[in-house]
Amino acid sequence: MKKLFTRRGFCRLAGAASVLLSNSSRAQDTPNRGALRVRLNVTGPGAGPILASYSKAVDAMQALPATDPRNWRKQAEIHLNHCPHGNWFFLPWHRAYLRYFEEICRDLSGDPEFVLPYWNWTKDPQVPKPFWNGVLNDSTRTIGPTDAMLSEFVGQDVIDIIMKITGFEQFASFRSTKTRGGQGGGQATLEARPHNHVHGRINGDMGNFLSPLDPIFWLHHANIDRLWAMWNLRNGNTEDGAWKGYNDPAYFADANKNSKGFVVAEVLSTYQLGYRYDTQPPQSPPALIAPVFKILPTFTLSANTFFQAQVNSPASVSLPAELGFLAKAKEIASLPDEQRLKTRVLLNFKLRPPTNIGTFVRVFLNCDYLNPETPLNDPHYVGSIAFFGNHDAEHNHGEMSYVLDITDTLSALKRAEAFPTEKINPQLLVVAPQGATGSAAEVGAAAVDITIVQAE
Ligand code: C2O
Repeated sequence: MKKLFTRRGFCRLAGAASVLLSNSSRAQDTPNRGALRVRLNVTGPGAGPILASYSKAVDAMQALPATDPRNWRKQAEIHLNHCPHGNWFFLPWHRAYLRYFEEICRDLSGDPEFVLPYWNWTKDPQVPKPFWNGVLNDSTRTIGPTDAMLSEFVGQDVIDIIMKITGFEQFASFRSTKTRGGQGGGQATLEARPHNHVHGRINGDMGNFLSPLDPIFWLHHANIDRLWAMWNLRNGNTEDGAWKGYNDPAYFADANKNSKGFVVAEVLSTYQLGYRYDTQPPQSPPALIAPVFKILPTFTLSANTFFQAQVNSPASVSLPAELGFLAKAKEIASLPDEQRLKTRVLLNFKLRPPTNIGTFVRVFLNCDYLNPETPLNDPHYVGSIAFFGNHDAEHNHGEMSYVLDITDTLSALKRAEAFPTEKINPQLLVVAPQGATGSAAEVGAAAVDITIVQAE
């Protein structure tokens, strides 16, 4: 049976009736042993029965005694106590976490076909309707059913920028020696932008490390997991043994209440884990080799600074740049797109997150006229950063690194004949949700540096 669907067998059958093709691809989508389960869009057709099973599972998990590792709150406490944020274990850890959770749901829902759905907030920026009723609702959310996620974080253009990134660390999060409390780390675009925003925008339980208490958490992370899998269709993960070989001790629980750990190398293919998203091809594509980006040490600008940026009032740092740096940056800004992907200019801000987690910052470069109305299609705009997961930040005086790629902004400035001539001035504009004022909506900046990285 299995052999029939190898690529060669399939080609030989290609002349057969198309009925066979549709039957066989449906057969693959059922949870028979050895078949691939398909995670579907929660707003797509076929989501009704999945959500009915999900509700049953949530109900059952909430009813379990607090000592049972499958208990709803116990599951959230795994996240509270162990989730890595702001480092390169962010993606594999959450993938493993979701997979065990899905298995528990399958068991407790009594639906052997259950597969966790995903919430694609780019296409459907509001929390999906079924999540405002019954057991799927979470009354602590600070937004309502008609409030949307903001397009400057989840819009298609932002996702396109993220999917174009070729460096693994620049894609989601930077190298660290441990899942928590290690050396290094830093949040890159996928984590700092759409991921963090969805947490902070929904807020309530979603605004802190007990976020898995909100049933939407799991579908949010399924979408992050899906974007990683989609990115992998064209890009490789890092080959670094310190990442792939990382062995995290057992603190997940499987459906039989056994403690489970994970090794990063074992969770790199959704296909090997027995599932794929409906946006992934049916067959596992070959794994790709990732480029290794190295910092060019002669071209680094840095400043220790300390300021508190206030809502709606632009705050900036001035980095005097040597002519050599400016010439190099201008040369990179002028490269054709393809070549520019191999040499990138990165801006690293050490920031102290606001206490109101719905507060975020817009980052600009050298914009003399920056004000709260400056549009996001202005060539000086770099991107927006939201805050979540500053747990480790507590060890570092509340600071966390946020890394933004400014290469394309420099290109836009060059095209607009506004390329910096003496200084590079990164700027922060704090934007707060209604009702967040004063110190709750302040963002602290502790250090900033600019580096140039090149693929080997
Ligand atoms: Cu570890 Cu989006 O949460």
